[in-house]
Amino acid sequence: MAGRVPDLRPTAVNRVLAEVRAVQARGIRTVSLMRGEPDLPTPAHIVEAAARSLRDGRTSYPDNRGELALREAVALKLERDNGLCYDPATEILATSGATFGIHAALMTVLDPGGEVLLADPIYDAYASPIRLAGGVPVRVPCPPRGPRFELHAGTLADRITPRTRALLLNTPWNPTGTVFGPGELRAIARVVIERNLWLLSDEIYEAFTYGGARHLSPVAAEPELRPRTILINALSKTYSMTGWRVGYCAAPKEAASAMLLVLQQSSRGPATFIQDAAAEALRGPQDAVEAMRREYAARRALVLERLKGLHACRPLPPEGGFFVMAGIAALDCSSDEARRRLLEEHGVVVIHGAAYGACGEGALRVSFAAGGDALSEGLTRLRAGLEAIAGE
Ligand SMILES: Cc1ncc(COP(=O)(O)O)c(C=O)c1O
Repeated sequence: MAGRVPDLRPTAVNRVLAEVRAVQARGIRTVSLMRGEPDLPTPAHIVEAAARSLRDGRTSYPDNRGELALREAVALKLERDNGLCYDPATEILATSGATFGIHAALMTVLDPGGEVLLADPIYDAYASPIRLAGGVPVRVPCPPRGPRFELHAGTLADRITPRTRALLLNTPWNPTGTVFGPGELRAIARVVIERNLWLLSDEIYEAFTYGGARHLSPVAAEPELRPRTILINALSKTYSMTGWRVGYCAAPKEAASAMLLVLQQSSRGPATFIQDAAAEALRGPQDAVEAMRREYAARRALVLERLKGLHACRPLPPEGGFFVMAGIAALDCSSDEARRRLLEEHGVVVIHGAAYGACGEGALRVSFAAGGDALSEGLTRLRAGLEAIAGE
């Protein structure tokens, strides 16, 4: 097999899932607080748009750039929600989820050995696509300061070498829950601009922010970033459309054209009728998104409430996204060991912070993307499990 294959890693969720199945095979029932997968249904008007499109025979090859109606809807959305202006004819691309946008962006900006800066801890499925594109992930340590994980411009600058090509930023930030504010984004932008880097900006959790935090696109915070930024987003989380596999990128014309070549030689974009539904999602009424945001806000509050007052656990209130990082530094074991014991002895599934990088050690990622009885029972088990581990 090719030399690049051993460099690839299964995602943390898939690795943990294999262990969950083994535990279930022993007859133990498990409850999951693991996945970043919304349990809410895709809003009905979006489903109907896909069905209508299928009935209308919209089943042939899509425009590889993305159907014009979708690109126009993306341009409208970027202006409406982010205050950004992109030309649907030349600067927008439809992709198969954010995952393909990340891949195409990396394939476009990286030469062999090119380094990509990643905050640590961060979404674990960035490192493998960087390696697949011939690059090298370089971690920027971001330990929590008080209630929040932060990426400091000085630490970022320290990690830059002559081989550094890009910073891959995620705001709202998985798994930490940080939503970068305007001052933070401008400080990061100065480093990116002065050191002549690309910014790959993954904004997939933008719709779900809490307690006064608001998503700000880095290019809106610092317009000078525009010529060197590839904005990556998807409908997966915002519209509960994870399985539809549809997203988009916005980038200056030359970068978008280069990414189009990558896309034409690989995925060729989402299915035509899916793109029609995505256009309806972006253009149509947005009240379902606000209803979902309120639901996630209530779930977030529940997690914080139910993990309160534990000696062994300090939950950090997230500003955005689907996850609470629960600090467990007071426990006498690694996050992976705690995760394993919670699974095997208490049947509750979380992900160890170390799966997201060394600075995630000392925390567990608790997801509230799924709610209802699963969340409630999962939190009961988690609390009991943490108390039991701490009591030894
Ligand atoms: C930060 C981040 N980016 C991208 C993705 C993948 O997005 P998609 O399902 O649209 O490919 C995820 C999924 O969990 C994520 O957390």
